[in-house]
Amino acid sequence: MTEQSHHPALSTEQQAALTSGGDFWHTRALPEAGVEGIMLTDGPHGLRKQPENGDALGIGTSEPSTCYPPACALGSSWDPALAERVGRAIALEAVAKNVSVVLGPGVNIKRSPLGGRNFEYLSEDPLLTARIGAALVHGVQSRGVGTSLKHFAVNSQETDRLRVSAEVDERTLREIYLPAFEHIVTTARPTTVMAAYNAVNGVPAARNHWLLTELLRGEWGFDGLVVSDWGAVADRVASLAAGLDLEMPPSRREAQVVAAVEDGSLDPAALDAAARRVLELLERTAAARVPGGSYDEDEHHALARAVAAQCAVLLKNDGGLLPLAPDGTGTIAVVGEFARSPRFQGGGSSHVVPTRLDTALDAIRATVTDPERIRFAPGFTLDGTADPALVAEAVEAVRAARHAVLFLGLPETHESEGFDRTDIDLPADQLALLDAVTAAARASGADVTVVLSNGAPVRLTPWQDRVGAVLEGWLLGQAGGSALARLLFGLDNPSGRLAETIPLRLEDNPSHLHFPGADGKVHYGEGVYVGYRYYDTLGLPVAHPFGHGLSYTTFGYDGLEVTPTGDNRFDVSFTVTNTGTRAGAEVAQLYVHECAPRLRRPEHELKGFAKVHLEPGESARLTITLDGRSFAHWSVRDHRWRVEGGEFELRIGASSRDLRLRTTVGCPGDGYVPGLTAESTLGEWLADPVGAQIIGAAMRPMAESIGISADDPIATTMGGSLPVGRIPAFVDSVTPEDIERLVAAHRELTAARAAEARAGAGRV
Ligand code: BGC
Repeated sequence: MTEQSHHPALSTEQQAALTSGGDFWHTRALPEAGVEGIMLTDGPHGLRKQPENGDALGIGTSEPSTCYPPACALGSSWDPALAERVGRAIALEAVAKNVSVVLGPGVNIKRSPLGGRNFEYLSEDPLLTARIGAALVHGVQSRGVGTSLKHFAVNSQETDRLRVSAEVDERTLREIYLPAFEHIVTTARPTTVMAAYNAVNGVPAARNHWLLTELLRGEWGFDGLVVSDWGAVADRVASLAAGLDLEMPPSRREAQVVAAVEDGSLDPAALDAAARRVLELLERTAAARVPGGSYDEDEHHALARAVAAQCAVLLKNDGGLLPLAPDGTGTIAVVGEFARSPRFQGGGSSHVVPTRLDTALDAIRATVTDPERIRFAPGFTLDGTADPALVAEAVEAVRAARHAVLFLGLPETHESEGFDRTDIDLPADQLALLDAVTAAARASGADVTVVLSNGAPVRLTPWQDRVGAVLEGWLLGQAGGSALARLLFGLDNPSGRLAETIPLRLEDNPSHLHFPGADGKVHYGEGVYVGYRYYDTLGLPVAHPFGHGLSYTTFGYDGLEVTPTGDNRFDVSFTVTNTGTRAGAEVAQLYVHECAPRLRRPEHELKGFAKVHLEPGESARLTITLDGRSFAHWSVRDHRWRVEGGEFELRIGASSRDLRLRTTVGCPGDGYVPGLTAESTLGEWLADPVGAQIIGAAMRPMAESIGISADDPIATTMGGSLPVGRIPAFVDSVTPEDIERLVAAHRELTAARAAEARAGAGRV
């Protein structure tokens, strides 16, 4: 309350203006009240600061800034510390450009490989998304620049994105689509959260009181500002009432807001709170507007390269084909237009104009001792028109070569904000090139490496069987070309791991029967079975599993020890050793499997990970801490997280399917006792310690009165599903009042025990 005192007192008109935005990229300045306007700018893998005339589609140009690897790559780094460095560097550029808020990170879950903005999102897994996203927010905000956690919530497709309603059940929301937002809000305190375009269960996110107020502020304690996605507000007054503070860009409906306050249909307190949050945002980001900021473009380019080298994923490397020797002999045919015209980011609002651009071709020539070894053939055009002459030229280059390195992937037109893909195939002309080149290589004895540039998975079968190595580069930002050359020639060792499963076929994806919906609705029918949670539960074959990624060295795991630290917490320690001959980094992953779950659960879920860099022969002792949430599920009965006591297997390894260490721990559970009512079944009463005691005493005479033994297993099984309130209909000697007494007795006994427990805890 006292904090408000140094905010200017604003009239209703001024508050309405302040919460409506100034222009496309600025909040409203109110010079007469001494309030400045601040700039919000897209990112999040660099800055898209437009000089004037804003557009949300990335069409207009913007000032050059370092283009770091987009989220699809950064997620594959599995390295929060690296993400934090990127965040800090972006913030330095923001300060230099007088940008107060960077509009990112995007932490929506990759539900389908078709999702048009998957390149802007981090993973199919909420924990990995949460950790990398939180690190980015920490990094950017460490220099006083604001962030915008987006798109809140369940914005996992582009089709009909401004209207579609994501129809998601409560458990799936809590376990899959919300945890990254929750973690980042509660641990990294983003200055703003961006309300998504889409609706969630019928209510547009930008006027969803449950999302913006009850959940975000009420449950998670968010204390920042909620900004609309650009143009997400259909009903300005309803959005304010729901908890949306700032509409962007301004839609010139301030008069409606003022009128609503005057006629009593909008609580003035809602407008007052929204205006106050805009003022608080100005205060929280004041350090971003200190003049004189600068950054070193060379240094940031070098950082972009170092990050890119940590993100690429070596999917396959038969017989240690890679790395190639820089000082080796024999011609290297570099094939594919992407080698000289890199595909390094996605299209749309996140499109950054880079400060410079490395090509793999130049970098390869600069890396090998004898550049004459390199022969380049473009092989295909970026517009996808088949060109037999280009294929023939590539085949000829490969025939004369010892190694063929093919740069394939998705052209820019295939992946952008605004639309979803319809298939996961490489373009037909590239597949034809691949056929021709692999046939030529087979005949001549050349080995073939494929380097991929794509923002979301492409189908790898059947062609990956015909090549020796596959390096998945995702989209690697402006220094991706040189990072790829360093990886191919072993100057860096690949250490990226898949943040999403690569399926064999599009049809195998769990969302396939539902995505992207129609007539304004998309049903999240696969529930919590997203990505590996589905593939691993069904044991389906995949092209490459979640968490997979090879290295030029090998790693061993041993020495697993688990220490319970109380309250469903465990410290899980183990040793990872670099058992090969090169320095490299391993990503140790910890999955939790519930041994005998009462309700269906995924086979296992990622609950911790650690990336560690090791010299040859070096070992590191790693400790991952698990807490109650690591074992919990969301109960749709109790509307809360529940940890049920029982056995859980902890699985540690190098992917969700390469598990090296296992052990079983007993979890005591959260001790939560759901209330028992007349609608609770006999089975539920018996499963509850207090309930069992009460009903046990009452049951024997009841059973006897209908002539069966209370211990008769058939009777107990059949009766188990009977709500106790229905017993009077079957058993004359039991009255509705008897049942009321049981329920009251349970309530009293539970309350008494809880009071005892509290008193006990107080004594400790
Ligand atoms: C996108 C946001 C972006 C905004 C501003 C919207 O179309 O969904 O991610 O920050 O435009 O460009």
